[in-house]
Amino acid sequence: MTQLDAPPSALLADAYANDRARVFHSWSAQGALDPTVIAGALGSKFWDDHGTTWIDFTSMLVNMNLGHQHPKMIQAIKDQAETLCMVAPPFANDQRSEAARLIVEKANGDGAGGHFEKVFFTNAGAEAVENAVRLAKGYTGRMKVLSAYRSYHGGTALSVGLTGEPRRLENEPSVPGLIKFWGPYPYRSAFHSDSPEQETERALQHLRDTIVVEGPDKIAAIILESVVGTNGILVPPAGYLEGLRALCDEFGIVWIADEVMAGFGRTGQWFAWQNWEGQPDLIAFAKGVNSGYIPLGGVVISSDIAHAYDERVFPGGLTYSGHPLACATAVASIGIFEEEGVLAHSRHLGDDIIGPALRDMAARHQSVGEVRGLGVFWAVELVADTTTREPAPPATVGAVVAECKRNGMWPLSAANRIHVVPPCNTPDDLAREGLAILDAALAVADAAIG
Ligand SMILES: Cc1ncc(COP(=O)(O)O)c(C=O)c1O
Repeated sequence: MTQLDAPPSALLADAYANDRARVFHSWSAQGALDPTVIAGALGSKFWDDHGTTWIDFTSMLVNMNLGHQHPKMIQAIKDQAETLCMVAPPFANDQRSEAARLIVEKANGDGAGGHFEKVFFTNAGAEAVENAVRLAKGYTGRMKVLSAYRSYHGGTALSVGLTGEPRRLENEPSVPGLIKFWGPYPYRSAFHSDSPEQETERALQHLRDTIVVEGPDKIAAIILESVVGTNGILVPPAGYLEGLRALCDEFGIVWIADEVMAGFGRTGQWFAWQNWEGQPDLIAFAKGVNSGYIPLGGVVISSDIAHAYDERVFPGGLTYSGHPLACATAVASIGIFEEEGVLAHSRHLGDDIIGPALRDMAARHQSVGEVRGLGVFWAVELVADTTTREPAPPATVGAVVAECKRNGMWPLSAANRIHVVPPCNTPDDLAREGLAILDAALAVADAAIG
């Protein structure tokens, strides 16, 4: 039996009514919601309770890097469920040990050399960020943390305080000592630069100035999404991450790479920072580590920081840290990445299919201000005016999204952008099909410009 002819759940008929009556949703005014009931999914497609099918260009919040219902992932869950469902953190467990060993191996570049040694497991990305900051504060004995205005780091008190985008605002006042800076964004430069080289230079000078005025000996960490995700898919210009590393070394600051969205294949590497030269001290991960088949996140810890806790107690913990069912899916996922060449396929999709198609769309559609990305991590920035780069209004973006959905592709939108973020193992023909739907839908935005 395939997923397509599996019998529908008996609960499906009431799913919508019970959702509206009883489910309280994330980041939403509850009254305005009209959620589509997802009845099933396979690979890079999902379908609703009426049988309407869409190509998944969202990976379910940029998370299912291996797509839906991968048979080896399902088997890993079944096998582990039959073996051992839960082991509390003080015990050791084969799946947790193996997941940690593999994740450290990948962080160290598969033997290319690196300073990572241990993994602290969490349930999700926000907890990974929380614990990375906790490790950095304990290691340095300092309290301030710097993060970018264009960032999202999670929904818990500290991680939403680190977040720069507007979702932070209703959650303030926040944890003390959280300082913001502007990261590089050549298309909308905060530094009035007119080349990526100038953007790197000026963004690093601004970061240095921020460090100096905030007091270098007060700053525990700088946390940065290696490629900014939700806030624009901002690929750092050449030299920026290397410059960040140099500043952290100069001032004794811990570099935390937030790889929750960018990690595990999204940019064609195990971790997005591996596309450049600099090496962070801590890596916060979640999502793609096991495509969210079971909630899992964590922090990869450098040797120096890990050993700082050899004698002293780490002041943090979670009942489900290193949950065997979740860790078994991480082990399975890393195995699938290797067996099925997922990193190479992600790079191929970006270099040979998505990148060229989006650049071609940018040349033909006047509503497209810029396209940018790598691997399966791309943004199409819609504008109302190509000269002023005024962002397209929500109604225009909403109309493009609706047109894509009407034609069988479910896109992810954020502000004035469409993010093209299908699973890393999406077949070429399906990626092309989804891109053609986006191409046609952009006519709606062109018409809005007039
Ligand atoms: C870069 C980044 N960090 C942290 C988080 C928070 O992860 P979670 O929702 O699993 O807590 C997200 C979620 O999208 C993210 O994109």
